[in-house]
Formats: sequence, C-alpha cells, structure tokens
Amino acid sequence: MAEKSSRLAGFYKLSIEERAQTVAEWAGLDEAEKAALMGEGLTPEQANHMIENVVGTYALPLGIAANFQINGRDYLIPMVVEEPSVVAAISHAAKLIREGGGFQAEVTAPVMIGQIQVLDLPDLEAASATLEAHREELLEQANCCDPLMLRLGGGARGISFRPLPETPAGPMLVVHLHYDVRDAMGANTINTAVEAIAPMVAELTGGRTNLRILSNLADQRLATARGVVPAELLARGEFTGPEAAQRIAEANAFAVADPYRAATHNKGIMNGIDAVVIATGNDWRAIEAGAHAYAARTGRYSALTDWHVNENGDLAGELTLPMAVGTVGGATRVHPTAQVALKILGVGSAQELAMVLACVGLAQNLAAIYALSTVGIQKGHMRLHARQVALAAGARPEQVEAIASQLIAEGKILLTRAEELVREAP
Ligand code: MEV
Repeated sequence: MAEKSSRLAGFYKLSIEERAQTVAEWAGLDEAEKAALMGEGLTPEQANHMIENVVGTYALPLGIAANFQINGRDYLIPMVVEEPSVVAAISHAAKLIREGGGFQAEVTAPVMIGQIQVLDLPDLEAASATLEAHREELLEQANCCDPLMLRLGGGARGISFRPLPETPAGPMLVVHLHYDVRDAMGANTINTAVEAIAPMVAELTGGRTNLRILSNLADQRLATARGVVPAELLARGEFTGPEAAQRIAEANAFAVADPYRAATHNKGIMNGIDAVVIATGNDWRAIEAGAHAYAARTGRYSALTDWHVNENGDLAGELTLPMAVGTVGGATRVHPTAQVALKILGVGSAQELAMVLACVGLAQNLAAIYALSTVGIQKGHMRLHARQVALAAGARPEQVEAIASQLIAEGKILLTRAEELVREAP
C-alpha cells in the first residue's frame, strides 16, 4: 500500500462532516471515534471521575493541521485551540518545510527529574559524597515501586547533586533522581520514586528532607525539530525569497537578544504545541513551564528557536525544548477525544509524540515570523476575526461568510456594524 499523504488538497473547503469523514478514513476511525471527534467526546460522568465538583464539560474547537512530514512519515495533526489562524498557518508552514525535504526530528530518552530538598546539613559537599557512595542502593530503592515500568524498560537511571549554599532558608542540598518513564508523562512514577528514596537520603546524610517532587524543567527529556525552506518559496509581498529568508533570520535574532520579544516569539511556538498537547490529553501547564524555564536556562530568557540562512542560501530552522508528554495514563486514557487524537497521529510512543510536538512548534514559529517579517499578521487575521465578530453579533451560520465579507469590504470590523448587518440580513 502506498504511504498515506498528509497533503489534503481542498480540505479547508469541505463541510465539517466531510472533513471528519476524510480524517476517519485516513486514520481508520470507527463511527464512535468519529463521533468523539465531532463533539460527542467527554461525558459529564467521565469528567466527574477526573476532577472534583464537576458541573459539566467545556468544549473548544478541534482542527486538523495538514502537510506534516516528519522523518519521512506523514502525519495529520489534531489541534485544540481557540485562536484563529493557528491551524491554517501551521499547515502552510509545514508545506513549506515539506518542500525542503520535510522535518527532521530527534528525541532523548524519556528521562524525568525528581527533586529531593535536604536541609540541616553541616557540609553539603560531604553529604553529596556520602550519597554518591550509596548510589546503587539509592537507585535500587527508587526502583522499588513500579514493577510494570521496569518490565517496560523504564526505571531509575542516575542521581546527581546540586548544592545550594545560599538560599533564604539557609544552605540546602538538592538531590536529583533521573528516571526513565517510557511512554508515561511520568509525574506519578517520579513522585513515588523520590518519596521512596527520601528516608534513605535523610538517614545517609543525617539531614532533614522537605520537598520531594518532579521538576518541570525536564531538560533530560528533550525533543528537537529541524527544517529547511528553499529560499525561492519565501517570496511574499514586496520581498524576494532570499530577502524574506534574511528578514526571518533577523526576526529570530531579535528574539534571541531581547526577552520582551522572546516571550512573544515563544508564546507563538506554544500556540502550536499546546494545541496538540491538549488534544492528546496531556498536561499543557507542565509543557509551558518546561519550555519557558528552558528558554531561561542560561540566566537570560531567550528564543527557543534558531533560524538562519544556510550555506545554500535557504532558510534553516531548529527548535529544542523539554517535552514531558505521555501516550498512556492520565487524561490521555480517560478522554475519548484524546484517544482519537492519538489514533489520528498514529504515534507509537511518547518519544514519537514529543518529536511531532517539536515539529508543530517549529512550524508555528516559521508561520508567525514569516508573516511578521513580510506582510504583517493583521491582514491574514482579518477574515477570521470578521467571522468571529459576525458570530458574536448573532449571525446564523449561513449568514457568517456574507457578513464577514461585508465587514472586510467596509474596512471596519466592528461589533456594532455587524449587529446592524445581522438585523438587516434576509
Ligand atoms: C500570537 O498568538 C502569536 C504571535 O504573536 C507569535 C509571534 O509574535 O511570533 C504571532
């Protein structure tokens, strides 16, 4: 059978039902799975088992980004996001990178960090040396409590020490446990493991332990995406392709050098990543925390990406960030739509999902800084914004396009005018 292509020509022109059917055929979804995509997802009863005091559920748009080719394989990308333009922009950027040979992605082993805070130590270096001498026992103890994880090839990998001689609460030693959590996000596993070794740490050092918890700065669990866009494809507005490539590299340099710009630049990256993290039922706050802490790892907050003009004159980009996501456990298992999202992605492991996420982030960033450094983003946003204003003014679905077009033609996208148009509409 020929490899499936994620290039879905004319997909955006289809009805919602037709799009869902296309995706269902693409991913081999059954009727129940297709229904979960189309809104019959999480029930209040299921939600009631997830959190406390449930009164209902809350829906967001679920769209599909096309054109992704990653390490030679095609992917359709389910995205849950409320912001207009993100899905279209990402699909367009993925197409540009596809023309340059597709995304190349890599990932580290899924190693999480758990922290133990140790206080009341007279000598931080001596305490570290004592723990180092008992490394094997500590790792064995860390492996005490999750036999399934060990059977699957996960488990404790190492231990390291971070003395903090000066804190507001005096000197403390931070012990890091490194633990391979395989296809889990791993929060429960790592928290159990650090709780299991904390008494041994206290006994060996004579200190007192306080916090025992994972770190969201998961810098042992990184995903990297790379892509190249042939310069001639970047011609836009008044700019030639090579000029646009140069301007994109300058935009990236701005975000590398300036934290005010870096915050916005990285926010855009997370527009893409969060949408897939949410679609797959993962913890997007963990991914946000990890991304921004990693962006500040040198002590100065900076861009997560690099874009430069390469030796052939083409635009080359790269993004690396922590990616603590799972494909098993938690909401990924409970939420029916998250299950379907994972099926559409067709990822075989959390590591593969992490690579896809890095590629989505790189694509979003390319789309954003390409628009910003050429025609600006307001033009592209206008139609979607006009549609939203029409809806907010009470337009019926069949009226939305006509009212949006009228607002754009008049050059003013105002709610009051949209309300007038709704009143006048046949
Ligand atoms: C908007 O949600 C995201 C952007 O501001 C990102 C960027 O400026 O790079 C467009």
